[in-house]
Amino acid sequence: MTKIAGRRWVVTGAAGNIGSALRAALHDRQVTLVSTDIRAVDPVGPHDCVAQTDLADLDALVELFAGADGVIHLGGISDEADFHDLAEVNIVGTYHVLEAARRAGVARVVSASSNRLTGLYGSGDHITPEMPPRPDGFYGVSKVAGEALCRLYADKFGISTVSLRIGSYEDRPGSAREQRTWLSPADAVRAFIAAMTTTQHTAVFYAVSANTGGWWDLAEGTAIGYVPQDDAAAWGDREHIDPDVPQGGVYATPAYSTDRMRR
Ligand code: NAI
Repeated sequence: MTKIAGRRWVVTGAAGNIGSALRAALHDRQVTLVSTDIRAVDPVGPHDCVAQTDLADLDALVELFAGADGVIHLGGISDEADFHDLAEVNIVGTYHVLEAARRAGVARVVSASSNRLTGLYGSGDHITPEMPPRPDGFYGVSKVAGEALCRLYADKFGISTVSLRIGSYEDRPGSAREQRTWLSPADAVRAFIAAMTTTQHTAVFYAVSANTGGWWDLAEGTAIGYVPQDDAAAWGDREHIDPDVPQGGVYATPAYSTDRMRR
């Protein structure tokens, strides 16, 4: 396994679900962390430097990123919301992270994308990252923009960028959908470490466990060294989902978006 001890990695969205667990795992592997969030962040240990920062503040991000080897960008709105908020926090926020990385001379940015970017494909479809996006809502649209920004910074500015289309990050799969989309906490750590250490300049892959009957192609993840070890099948028999039902399930319904519009 690639040695990561002694590296200096910034984590945005550090106070969130994935950020909190991932930081603890990286700290155990002797990564020096700079953990930031708009909320207060509890340090996970003596090698965790915490800072409260809004993704809207580009100058503060540039300062924070100085001397870092890489950035793991998890911060933002993590579900459907009013489009104006998603545009501001997820799209402009991701632009600020990438631009701050460019100004601070950071070599790699790994950004949390989402399976919801392809949630309007049918449950009978097998999806690869090369297929056109079919977002299941405005949140998914914000992640399409995030992936495009990552690709731009890789192609135009030479920063290595990896977008992880995260499945359903849960301790255990809790629904028929999650039997296909589950990402275990241990596999999440494997996915982020692979993304942060791959020799590939840029990549997009589904960060999902090796679920029996899963919807998404794992080859792009394997190519960068992500080998998931968990399978939702260990938690029980797979329930049937009609092949015509959108992969996004309830997230793909019109009401899931209109209910969250401010105006
Ligand atoms: P979370 O909602 O628990 O954490 C997101 C963090 O971002 C929060 O701590 C929040 O305070 C912070 N944040 C929000 N606005 C901010 C701003 N303006 N400036 C700075 N920080 C801000 O989300 P979670 O579950 O940890 O997900 C992390 C990332 O992974 C998100 O980008 C999410 O969209 C993505 N993702 C998560 C999935 C999951 O199953 N949890 C599935 C697919 C994608």
